[in-house]
Amino acid sequence: MRVLKGSSLGTMDAGELQAMRQAAGRVLIDVGTGDARTAYRIARERPDWLVIGLDPAWRRMVPTAVRSRRKPAKGGVSNLVLVSAVIEEPPQELVGLADELLVLMPWGKLLRGVVLGEADVCGGLRAVAKAGATVDVTVGTSIWRDPVPLEIRDLPELTPEYARDVLSDRLAALGWRITAADLVSSTAMERINSSWARRLGSGSAEVVMHLRAVAVPPARE
Ligand SMILES: C[S@@+](CC[C@H](N)C(=O)[O-])C[C@H]1O[C@@H](n2cnc3c(N)ncnc32)[C@H](O)[C@@H]1O
Repeated sequence: MRVLKGSSLGTMDAGELQAMRQAAGRVLIDVGTGDARTAYRIARERPDWLVIGLDPAWRRMVPTAVRSRRKPAKGGVSNLVLVSAVIEEPPQELVGLADELLVLMPWGKLLRGVVLGEADVCGGLRAVAKAGATVDVTVGTSIWRDPVPLEIRDLPELTPEYARDVLSDRLAALGWRITAADLVSSTAMERINSSWARRLGSGSAEVVMHLRAVAVPPARE
């Protein structure tokens, strides 16, 4: 699969990844990782985990990729892999690998796919998950307040009611059972996971929709 090797793209084969996997107690995949700073922070906090950041916009991950290759005393981490890919077409090496998935503040195809429960995006997330893995999705609700960006004007707002009444059946058909769908303040986010909360910025007034689902066998139609 295509991974960041410092400031350029290279390849990582299944054997190399497998060795990292075997040395790790847990695998987390941060889907739509952006600049990969949250993935990097988690990798530093959890040296015994394998943390994988995935995003097609690989150039934004370069500063984090460069930093992660330094000596440990200078910020280097050996348990972070940054992959250039879209989740609709996950690299084969990642299939069935994740104990935990994050989708933090998605946009574009990733946002639409999650909010609408589309088969390509939610099926891709399911493909990289182990049975019983969790996915945590956070979306700032202010994107649905005026002025609403043109590209999401037709997108239903992700609310606890929408998750329960519309999304849960779509996700169940793709192998995800929703276990939590709540509006949370940034203070409450801090309690859920300080690493993600820092992504919002301290003191942010943003109310965030937090959705958690667990990977289960797909429901029959
Ligand atoms: C607003 S950024 C959030 C980045 C990061 N999660 C954070 O919280 O800082 C959304 C990211 O989703 C990525 N994205 C959009 N569509 C995607 C897809 N189909 N598969 C994977 N990532 C995608 C974008 O490239 C972008 O980097």
